[in-house]
Amino acid sequence: MAPQDRQQIKVGILGATGTVGQRFIQLLSVHPYFKINALGASSRSAGQQYSKVTRWKLNTPIPKEIGQMVVQECQPEAEGFKDCAVVFSGLDADVAGNIEQAFRSAELVVYSNAKNYRRDPLCPLIVPLVNPSHLSIIPHQRSQLNLSKGYIVTNANCSTTGLVVPLAALEKAFGPLETVLVTTLQAISGAGYPGVSSLDILDNVVPHIGGEEEKIEWETNKILGGLKSSDTEFDLHASSENNTKPINVSAHCTRVPVIDGHTGCVSVKFTRSPPPSIAEVEQAFREFKCEAQDLGVPSAPEQAIVVHDLPDRPQPRLDRDLHNGACVSVGRIRECPVFDVKFVCLIDNVRLGAATSSIMNAEIAVEKGLI
Ligand SMILES: NC(=O)c1ccc[n+]([C@@H]2O[C@H](COP(=O)([O-])OP(=O)(O)OC[C@H]3O[C@@H](n4cnc5c(N)ncnc54)[C@H](OP(=O)(O)O)[C@@H]3O)[C@@H](O)[C@H]2O)c1
Repeated sequence: MAPQDRQQIKVGILGATGTVGQRFIQLLSVHPYFKINALGASSRSAGQQYSKVTRWKLNTPIPKEIGQMVVQECQPEAEGFKDCAVVFSGLDADVAGNIEQAFRSAELVVYSNAKNYRRDPLCPLIVPLVNPSHLSIIPHQRSQLNLSKGYIVTNANCSTTGLVVPLAALEKAFGPLETVLVTTLQAISGAGYPGVSSLDILDNVVPHIGGEEEKIEWETNKILGGLKSSDTEFDLHASSENNTKPINVSAHCTRVPVIDGHTGCVSVKFTRSPPPSIAEVEQAFREFKCEAQDLGVPSAPEQAIVVHDLPDRPQPRLDRDLHNGACVSVGRIRECPVFDVKFVCLIDNVRLGAATSSIMNAEIAVEKGLI
């Protein structure tokens, strides 16, 4: 259907006052498929006008009609939410579990950024540039929970997303990977607002982000793995049919004084021997195409992976805005004396790492008739 003939779908935003919630508002307020109909946050904010209660941190103004809306409690029966088909959630993990489940039970489609349902065997964990095919488990999720419309789709941890896009390009071109080692340099916006205190982060590197390494190490195999032929179970990258074993992933995570943009320094070993040449790896990154692009959904970047030739790129400040923050940048592709190849990747953690992924996942679901 041509975009101009499509009736806009009413959506709500959970955690609308937060870092991810603000990006949802910025992106959805001009969206061709979706119309913001409800904003939800904690009881600290509920009942108040959005512009009065939000510490807006983006460099575009709060859209006027959104600023005037009254923030609701995150309940499916609340004003505005009861007319929505979809909610985009930027809720804290402490509260996301019960709230997102309540919305699903009320037959809404939920796109979550929290960790709570990422390991759930019924919930797809989708990076839209990598594995939208995992949406095929939705009929099973609905039938197991006796739902006709509601379901939950999660997106990945923001550093995981920046890593799996180039890894997917390598697996697509050269077959399964054996081992991946990544060291991240993560932006402070990844911790939400107000995040890490300035006295802790300025002039400093903090070599610990609670739970982050385990997320990268586990989520990578769910995303890069497939669905078993019955479309009812994820293979977690261990399939006799596809001849895959779980990839050994080891992550070191650090927080650095960057506002937006997570960098990853990655080393990879292929199962294939001999491994591809550096020129072949670079070509695989440059030629990577994904389903979101084939479907032509509005948030899909023209290029999923931007390869940088200069030896000192990608850099967060210079490269995070490429393709409206919806792509992954890759550079410094070179031989690894311990594994096979090493490179640097960069993702905008709040756009492709969070809000843009949820929105692109929902656009793909619309195109597949799942909303
Ligand atoms: N920031 C990133 O780069 C990023 C990337 C990927 C995933 N994520 C994930 O996305 C989620 C949101 O992260 P964030 O950085 O946006 O956090 P944030 O800035 O701290 O925002 C949290 C939001 O949750 C709301 N909230 C807190 N307690 C609540 C409650 N009891 N009931 C209802 N709403 C409540 C807050 O509302 P009030 O303003 O009313 O307190 C606020 O809107 C987290 O699960 C995070 O792990 C974040």
